[in-house]
Amino acid sequence: MRRLREAVAGLDVGMLVNNAGVAKPGAVYLHEVDVEAWVRMIRVNALALTEVTAAVLPGMLRRGRGAIVNIGSGSSFALPSYPLYSVYVATKRYVLEFSRSLSVEYKSSGIDVQCQVPLLVETNMVSSAARLIRQFVLTPDAYARAAVSWIGHGTLCVPNAVHRLQGWYICFWQDFITDGSLLRRHLKQRVIFRRLRSWRKSQEAGWASDSAKATMRCEL
Ligand SMILES: NC(=O)c1ccc[n+]([C@@H]2O[C@H](COP(=O)([O-])OP(=O)(O)OC[C@H]3O[C@@H](n4cnc5c(N)ncnc54)[C@H](OP(=O)(O)O)[C@@H]3O)[C@@H](O)[C@H]2O)c1
Repeated sequence: MRRLREAVAGLDVGMLVNNAGVAKPGAVYLHEVDVEAWVRMIRVNALALTEVTAAVLPGMLRRGRGAIVNIGSGSSFALPSYPLYSVYVATKRYVLEFSRSLSVEYKSSGIDVQCQVPLLVETNMVSSAARLIRQFVLTPDAYARAAVSWIGHGTLCVPNAVHRLQGWYICFWQDFITDGSLLRRHLKQRVIFRRLRSWRKSQEAGWASDSAKATMRCEL
């Protein structure tokens, strides 16, 4: 926090976009991975966002203007649950509630706080499994264009029309139907992630034994 405050001290930070986020380890049951992975996720998705916001606010308050855009997720807004991503969706709900209250707190000081809640966008975060349902996945360019045009318009927004349409469509289903279909989809992703992880482990083990062999050869 000290280094961050020093870094922004002389700058006129007009806009802060809290975009950094992690969804790793992906679709898993809570007990299946080390708790450190969840702590890391909470640190990036919730704690860092709070700290960076706290660091730029004093400058914005002094100047009486500024905009803060927090990237939440449609998973914590448009959907009744997001099974196998429980910590991820909880951190994104934090982003949403944090932004809503901040927006009320700082509106009269000339600072706009907005939470954007995208659904699927084709980035590194989105698994290849999700990319199979291409008609629902936006390109980063399409999302970014819509996202920029929405800044300053409302506390909470789903910038792209395709995502808004999806959110509207989801409302028609009873929660238990959406819950079941998401669980099935994420269980499939979990299988893919497990295969990927064990493939990576075997590659690393192969690489390690190759380098061990090379070292032995050198030593001999
Ligand atoms: N893609 C989607 O469908 C989707 C849907 C809803 C919400 N979101 C949200 O959109 C935001 C952007 O995600 P994305 O889809 O663009 O995913 P991404 O391609 O995985 O990008 C994540 C970004 O977060 C940064 N980051 C991660 N850990 C960091 C750390 N410890 N310190 C600093 N930066 C860190 C990464 O920086 P490096 O590249 O330097 O690692 C990268 O720029 C996230 O908040 C995500 O939750 C995405």
